[in-house]
Amino acid sequence: MEERKKVLYSAVQPTNDLTIGNYIGAIQNWVKLQNDYDCYFAVANMHAITVRQNPAELRRRTADMAALLIACGINPENSVLYVQSHVPAHAELCWTLNTFTYVGEMERMTQFKDKSKKHADNINMGLMDYPVLMAADILLYQADYVPVGLDQRQHVEIARDIAQRFNNVYSPTFKMPEALFLKVGAKICDLLDPTKKMSKSAENPNGSVFLNDDRDTIIRKFKRAVTDSGSEVRYDPENKAGVSNLLSIYSVFSGKSIEKAEADFAGKGYGEFKLAVGEVVADKLAPLQAEWQRLLADKAYLDGVLKSGAERAERTANRTLAKVYKKVGFYSLKD
Ligand code: TYM
Repeated sequence: MEERKKVLYSAVQPTNDLTIGNYIGAIQNWVKLQNDYDCYFAVANMHAITVRQNPAELRRRTADMAALLIACGINPENSVLYVQSHVPAHAELCWTLNTFTYVGEMERMTQFKDKSKKHADNINMGLMDYPVLMAADILLYQADYVPVGLDQRQHVEIARDIAQRFNNVYSPTFKMPEALFLKVGAKICDLLDPTKKMSKSAENPNGSVFLNDDRDTIIRKFKRAVTDSGSEVRYDPENKAGVSNLLSIYSVFSGKSIEKAEADFAGKGYGEFKLAVGEVVADKLAPLQAEWQRLLADKAYLDGVLKSGAERAERTANRTLAKVYKKVGFYSLKD
């Protein structure tokens, strides 16, 4: 008998355009892992509204993002690709898990503190509850692994704490999920300020490379990337943050190891190095962008994928939710 594959869960928010940080830290890694696991990938539009969104844009970006994931290589025949709001169990489990989560621990979450500063006029309950919804996402599917970038580490940890708490109060209900981080690329940094992570919503768009940037823009952004006063292309994140960031990007986009990448640029100047990084990124993104446009023009196909994804996701999610409702003592009607 074939052994059951382990379950892998991850999601991306449809806020702003995706960057090569999202591609490296998440999507390309999902593509690599997808054949070895039972995968669920969601477009997390319920998380997105914790920050005010333009409704028409949110709608468009949700479809955009699903198409992009397929264009990047997610195979929706095998992996379950769906939109979070299409599966009501996420909101339902979130409510139950809220009663196992303390206000104090949510107030201490780094992302909550950062976003509260950034959106001081709209510190809404959803922003604070964000990690609990994320815990619900992961736990509904009994995920073994959650591949994410380093910025999501604290969120996966709190999901484990909440799961453990629930399991202790009742009986084992949730699988304990484990975060998976890449060795190279778990935190891609801003090209203009390599001490900060590259972000979809950075103030200066020249520090982020977006997956829909054209070739000239990509090359221009890399040419302007901050390096350091030295001249050696060497991986040393502590002392050469900018160069090391570019080496990580080059390594993932070229498929070469960091050592091989260093060797390629031995004796060459930063100018030549930055141009080569820009070119390898632009070369890799061009076919992916073409496929993305092709998919966006085929709304019937895309909607079909998302409908079937939501149905498959719902089957798994509802099984977990039913167990949870039974354990907490919700009265159920005889069919
Ligand atoms: P989001 O949409 O901000 O980012 C999606 C994924 O991209 C990773 N990432 C990065 N990796 C490396 N370098 C960077 N500069 C970089 N920027 C972003 C993120 O770590 C993430 O893996 N809360 C999540 C979405 C989510 C989720 C989930 C994830 C909702 N529910 C359940 C896992 C499981 C988020 O905002 O990701």
